[in-house]
Amino acid sequence: MKKVVLDTYEEVCRAVADIYTEQLTKKPDSILGLATGSTPVGLYEELVRRHRAGELDFSKARSFNLDEYYPISKSHPQSYDYFMRENLFDKINIGQYALPNGEAGDPEAECAGYDAAIEAAGGIDLMLLGIGHNGHIGFNEPSVSYSLGTYLVDLTESSLKANSRFFGPDTPQPTRALTMGLGSILNSRRIVLMICGASKAPIAGRLFEGKVHSDVPASFLLLHPDTTIFLDKEANGG
Ligand code: GLP
Repeated sequence: MKKVVLDTYEEVCRAVADIYTEQLTKKPDSILGLATGSTPVGLYEELVRRHRAGELDFSKARSFNLDEYYPISKSHPQSYDYFMRENLFDKINIGQYALPNGEAGDPEAECAGYDAAIEAAGGIDLMLLGIGHNGHIGFNEPSVSYSLGTYLVDLTESSLKANSRFFGPDTPQPTRALTMGLGSILNSRRIVLMICGASKAPIAGRLFEGKVHSDVPASFLLLHPDTTIFLDKEANGG
């Protein structure tokens, strides 16, 4: 696991954007794993900027997102489908994209189909991750046992609280989500984790204890051969 600390959030976004540029130059038909949350917003802005400047072409690339609330309609402004279209897909020329379907009638069949689609595409070349305050990646919440493939998960109080700011009194917050499992994430050939802001310093500290803890899902990244963690100074403890 490689650790890179940069002064500011903007520098982290540019450094991670450089990895995308390198990846898509080397392999234009890359399979990209993408994430939501506030952390990647600046990265997506930088990718859009580079695309508009003619520096980045996504036309042959394909993406699979980590997770989606369940149940939720794609047109719901807080759905991850909506978020991705708003922040990235409607602004670049991505060949094809997929998220777990929050509208699926049969969530188990949806999860199995999602895993099969990732496998049929040849697996994920570059997986982007953020981290929850409780150490979750995707929506793999702290647990004594973890799922390998995509599954339906009950969100913990901590995640519900962290995301409640996005839901008003008229828009009930889903309490479950469909998420790639730790196996799907760790099967990716290369992983980039962004950790930014002072509020993430405690969980970053736990991660850098260097031990796999069942109560810190992100610590399983220690088992992966090509993971780089980008932090801004604040997340690294100031
Ligand atoms: C969300 C997502 C994660 C994300 C995390 C952190 O709930 N499921 O994929 O990494 O929480 O979000 P933020 O970047 O807003 O702190």
